[in-house]
Amino acid sequence: MPRKKWHLPERQATDEDVYLNRRKFIRQAGLGSIALLGGCIPEKLLNPQQLVDPAKFLNPQVAEPTASPETAEPTPPSEWYPAPVNEAFATLDRPLTDERVAALYNNFYEFSTTKEVWRFIDNFEPRPWTVEISGLVQQPKTYDIDDLIGLMELEERLYRHRCVEAWSMAIPWTGFPMRALVDLVQPLSSARYVRMTSFFNPTVAPGQWDRSDYPWPYTEGLTMAEATNELTLLATGIYGHELPKQHGAPVRLVTPWKYGFKGIKSITKIEFISEQPATFWNSLVPREYSFLSNVEPEVPHPRWSQATEGFITTDPFNPERRPTLLYNGYAEYVAHLYG
Ligand code: MTE
Repeated sequence: MPRKKWHLPERQATDEDVYLNRRKFIRQAGLGSIALLGGCIPEKLLNPQQLVDPAKFLNPQVAEPTASPETAEPTPPSEWYPAPVNEAFATLDRPLTDERVAALYNNFYEFSTTKEVWRFIDNFEPRPWTVEISGLVQQPKTYDIDDLIGLMELEERLYRHRCVEAWSMAIPWTGFPMRALVDLVQPLSSARYVRMTSFFNPTVAPGQWDRSDYPWPYTEGLTMAEATNELTLLATGIYGHELPKQHGAPVRLVTPWKYGFKGIKSITKIEFISEQPATFWNSLVPREYSFLSNVEPEVPHPRWSQATEGFITTDPFNPERRPTLLYNGYAEYVAHLYG
């Protein structure tokens, strides 16, 4: 399998120029921490002592080896990445976002309300990890994440990624269609929605104790038609390797026609249910974050326009202004779902 151009070789991860540029970026990133979802949460650096070098979060496969096999954390088989590219999603109308920028500019409120999630994520261990499949299904089961991935065919897809905050990126995800999981577990005909739940562990996630008034754990939901749509991906990798922690390791949802907050990270439970589930942002601020939250340029957020977006390639503070596309450019796949 040819190496992708975004693949980060180990020697490059320690290259001095790259490192120095990264430090410069990190300094700049500190200035940008006020771009919060909804803009309603004050900037707060939760625990500056946890400052760590982001290099080790870019590609978990280049992490230092652990001392002994007994204490070693389980790691996914290295032959899973990079996965074959799905030709239907091999190109985009815009350049890819730089991998380092994507890895240093994240939303993951369990760890921080700033974009510098990587600073706060050192104690989070995404393996071993289980995903419970339950509710209205014929085959309920709790899977070890790597056993589950082993049952699936991984593929790579380039998708547009549009945050409700009006910034966007272009990301190569690796994962498997949610439809393949649905085929495996066989929901009952009474299942009309899927509810996904993220982890709850305030001892490793400072945002969960700092913001104890939030409706943790983070939850999201889709209709069955959305969950089984061709676009809907359960992502386990990015840029040709497994997901780094700040992108939602070990498994997260990707629904590219919806605002990014629908893409729940670090999923622990997938339930098939009959009623529309309560979801994290919709419960917190229902007027601003609807259950569907499709990307629609003509529907402004109550506090800002969604007609354009700032597309980030290499510099989050100097994005390219572009018109927002209906359903983020995926109308041919999803417009029929919404009449
Ligand atoms: N999932 C969880 N569990 N917690 C979060 O705070 N943030 C969401 C989404 N998934 C979030 C989450 C938001 S607002 C966005 S825009 C995307 O993740 C960001 O994904 P990225 O950081 O990989 O770009």
